[in-house]
Amino acid sequence: MFKWLRGTEVHQTWPIRLHGLTPLGDPIVLRPLRVVDEREFFAVRRTNVEWLAPWDATAPRPSSASRRFADMVAAQEEEARAGVSVPLAIELDGALVGQVNVSNIARGSLWSCVVGYWVTEQVAGRWITPTAVALVGDYCLAALGLHRIEINIRPENTASLAVVRKLGFRDEGMRRKYLHIDGDWRDHRSFALTTEDLAGQTLMTRLTQLSQPSLWRHTDPAPRA
Ligand SMILES: CC(C)(COP(=O)(O)OP(=O)(O)OC[C@H]1O[C@@H](n2cnc3c(N)ncnc32)[C@H](O)[C@@H]1OP(=O)(O)O)[C@@H](O)C(=O)NCCC(=O)NCCS
Repeated sequence: MFKWLRGTEVHQTWPIRLHGLTPLGDPIVLRPLRVVDEREFFAVRRTNVEWLAPWDATAPRPSSASRRFADMVAAQEEEARAGVSVPLAIELDGALVGQVNVSNIARGSLWSCVVGYWVTEQVAGRWITPTAVALVGDYCLAALGLHRIEINIRPENTASLAVVRKLGFRDEGMRRKYLHIDGDWRDHRSFALTTEDLAGQTLMTRLTQLSQPSLWRHTDPAPRA
């Protein structure tokens, strides 16, 4: 659990656990990866290789960093405790279905962070990612006291563009050859949101409001002839 903050003082107590309902009513839980998740994590990643590969971050140079799952979990925990990232697994009905990762947390005169995410193909289209981003985004703004959240998306990733649209992020324009994805440097559109954009609202409230017209579209009976 975490302590809510006053002013710009930062107290992050790790591990955290966040939970909420998607606009479709599915309960999701965000929590750190644990060493015992190894088997499930790799099974999920294996089943979704083709789904994830076009959007997965890759290393531009060969790295000597350990690929052991336990080392990855330990590194994530160390960064989280240092207050520079918030790496969370997404759970639906007790199953691991994705990740939402807050990185590049900068303070000084910036107080900003970058959010990345993925879910399995099996649960796509159920508003899980927008809800996960809203939950962790509210945590970053309220508990960590951050001022700005940024999300970078390849222009051809229409599913991910839908996520920022559903949360009302602003389009800040194109960044040429910005991130190394799927083996090469790729252009990205940068989206952002500041506390001023929310004007006192939470991201979860905003998501609920912005989701209403789409949900009506999907659930309304067809108009009578
Ligand atoms: C992008 C991604 C995270 C969206 O997550 P999600 O939880 O499905 O998000 P949503 O439920 O809001 O759906 C977003 C869009 O996905 C598309 N979508 C919906 N159902 C889908 C399905 N069964 N299969 C593929 N795409 C689907 C739709 O375009 C939808 O937008 P819409 O609701 O306006 O029609 C997910 O598609 C994913 O993990 N993709 C692979 C990894 C990736 O792209 N990561 C992000 C890199 S920036």
